[in-house]
Amino acid sequence: MSKIIAVSNQKGGVGKTTTTINLAASLAMADQRVLVIDMDPQGNLTSGLGQKAGSEHTVYEALVGAAELPVLQTAVDHLHLVPADRHLAGAEVELVTMDAREQRLKRLITPLRDRYDFILIDTPPSLGLLTLNALVAADTVLIPLHCEYFALEGLADLMATLSRIGQDLNPTLDVEGVVLTMYGDRTNLGAQVAREIREFFESKVFDTVIPRNVRLAEAPSHGLPVLLYDPRSRGAEAYVSLAHELLTRNGAVPRRAAATKA
Ligand SMILES: Nc1ncnc2c1ncn2[C@@H]1O[C@H](COP(=O)(O)OP(=O)(O)OP(=O)(O)O)[C@@H](O)[C@H]1O
Ligand SMILES: [Mg+2]
Repeated sequence: MSKIIAVSNQKGGVGKTTTTINLAASLAMADQRVLVIDMDPQGNLTSGLGQKAGSEHTVYEALVGAAELPVLQTAVDHLHLVPADRHLAGAEVELVTMDAREQRLKRLITPLRDRYDFILIDTPPSLGLLTLNALVAADTVLIPLHCEYFALEGLADLMATLSRIGQDLNPTLDVEGVVLTMYGDRTNLGAQVAREIREFFESKVFDTVIPRNVRLAEAPSHGLPVLLYDPRSRGAEAYVSLAHELLTRNGAVPRRAAATKA
């Protein structure tokens, strides 16, 4: 039975999509069977994994219609993708009047659960119905935090949403952890913010810190995870390390050490 992790933070540009792609690819390279689901109408996860826009089969049709989730193979073995495009923005409105509107993704994922070890869901920078569907479907939430002055701003809203969902729609939802992203060790500010975040979230913060690394920003325009684009980059090493830490914390033994080489 797979573990379902929603990657979420309603603050924009904190590394949700970069983390989803590269953590998923690193888990897949450690021989885990992984599915990623794009719940963001921006479709960055989809394009970042090399899928062109304009497919008729996206998560949108499944969410608002009777279709099953469309599952595509990616350039990485054992890594599958449920794509999205801008039409998904319509679902935020269309879902409002539908039955069990917060449960639709959960119901769609259920038949897929035993095919994967991990299912990662990328969410948009908002706390609307798309994010809610992801949080209801998930076992845990992984929160990327950008190491900058305003990192903790708005986090109260996310924590309030999580506790509301915990009381009502998904009582077993847990925090998988907090990942510090885009860390630049040149500034004292990054170190200070990282310290504050560790004080606040304590052991929930992953030891692995994702550095600011230009390869991570370049890889999506080639439609590749960084492990295939530049396996020797610091960004690739960091996400391999994050994947190992996540596997260890989950008591899973990597089936094969994640190769940093493609
Ligand atoms: N560690 C990093 N080093 C350098 N650039 C990064 C890093 N992580 C992310 N980026 C870049 O920063 C930008 C924002 O990252 P990303 O798209 O992953 O954030 P997001 O939280 O998914 O954004 P949104 O809220 O819009 O969905 C992207 O251009 C991405 O390539
Ligand atoms: Mg994103």
